[in-house]
This record gives sequence, C-alpha cells and structure tokens, in this order.
Amino acid sequence: MNIVRTRDYEEMTGRAADMIFEQVNRKPDSVLGLATGSTPIGVYRQLASWCQEGVLDFSRVRTVNLDEYAGLSKDHPQSYSYFMQEHLFDHINIDPQNVHIPDGLGEETAECERYDNLIRSLGGIDLQLLGLGHDGHIGFNEPEDHFPAGTHMVRLSESTIQANKRFFADESQVPRFAYTMGISDILQSRKVLMIVSGGDKAEILREAFTGPVTPRVPASILQFHNDFTLIADEEALSAF
Ligand code: GLP
Repeated sequence: MNIVRTRDYEEMTGRAADMIFEQVNRKPDSVLGLATGSTPIGVYRQLASWCQEGVLDFSRVRTVNLDEYAGLSKDHPQSYSYFMQEHLFDHINIDPQNVHIPDGLGEETAECERYDNLIRSLGGIDLQLLGLGHDGHIGFNEPEDHFPAGTHMVRLSESTIQANKRFFADESQVPRFAYTMGISDILQSRKVLMIVSGGDKAEILREAFTGPVTPRVPASILQFHNDFTLIADEEALSAF
C-alpha cells in the first residue's frame, strides 16, 4: 500500500489526475473504473481540461462506473449517470459506447449478471478510482458481515442516506437501494487509487487502513491489494 500525503484537496486532485494521465498515455484503450461523489470532481475537471488542450485522448478509453441508485433513470438529475455526463463525459472525446454504468432501472438479477459479464468482457479494470464513504463504504459496498463478491443491489445505510441527502430536495427523495460493483470486482482491478479529503473522513480512514481487515469497514480489504495507492490530504490523514 502506497500512501501519498498531500497538503490539500488541490494537491490531492493533481496527484490523482497525473496517475490517470499516465495510465491512459501508457495504454490508450485502458479500462478506467470511475467513481462519483464530491471528491473526484476536481480530478474530472483536470482530465477534461487536458483533453480540451489536446494532451490527453479518451477516444479509445473504456469506462465502468462503480455504482448507480436503483430506481433512477439515467437522465434523472441525481443519477450517477447524469453526474458523470455533467462532470466528465460531456467534456471529453470518449465514445459514448465505451461508457458503462449500472442501469438503475434494470431488473435485479439480470442487471447484476450483465454488469459482471461486461467487466469480464472488457478484460477487467486497469485502474479503479475510489472515494471513501463516511461509514467506510467503497462504491456502495456498505458495512456488512461479509464481503459481497460481484455486482449486487444494496440497501443504503442510514449514514450514507444522511451523507447523500445534500444532493436531493429532501431526505425522502434519496433512493434507499443502489446497484454496486462487488468487492471482488474492485479487488481484481490491476491498480486501485483512492482519494480522500477533509477532516470528516479522518477517523474512518484511520480505521480502514490501520485497523483490522473487516467487512464492517469495507475499504479495509484494500490493505490486501498489491497495487493500491491512497492519496489523501493532511486533514484526512490527521488521525493516522
Ligand atoms: C457515495 C458513492 C461513493 C463515494 C462516496 C463518498 O455514496 N457511492 O462511490 O466514494 O459516496 O462521497 P464523497 O466523495 O462525496 O464524500
């Protein structure tokens, strides 16, 4: 596990964007695993700006997103599909056919099977970008008593509903279920890059990477990944 400590959000963003830049330059048809949430927004802005300057080419890149709210269509303004369009895909030269996000309206069994088959058919993920939930979730893999392997539907924890209600008109609008890649899907990625910023994540970050590996803190499983980089700012690392 490689830990990069940065001064602040801007430096964290720059370091993470550099890693993705290198990945795409080294392998122009990379499969990038992408995340939503507020943390990666700066990274996406930087990637879009390099693409517009003509120094980064997404024309052959394939993407798979971690998760999507169940019950939201892809044009719903709070869907992760909409988020990705708005923050990244509308601003880069990616082929829309190469963009993959779980279908929030898909039937549970069929959708989970489709998404796992899709990841396999792409040859797996070259670099998976992750944020960290306040309860230690990655994607939407919430604290549980086991590590779910493949794509599955989850009931969102109370802490996640509280954290994510800021994006909705009110709490009652926050979907209670979501589709997420499973822990094996994430662990099978050739590289994993997690970005974390801010003091509100300090305690869970410490638990995840200095405590025991446990499904009660899903991110802790990344301690076992052999090419895992954590880029976090000083505030997020303040409890280490
Ligand atoms: C969401 C997403 C996660 C994300 C997490 C943290 O629930 N499903 O993929 O990492 O929240 O979000 P933020 O970066 O806004 O703290």
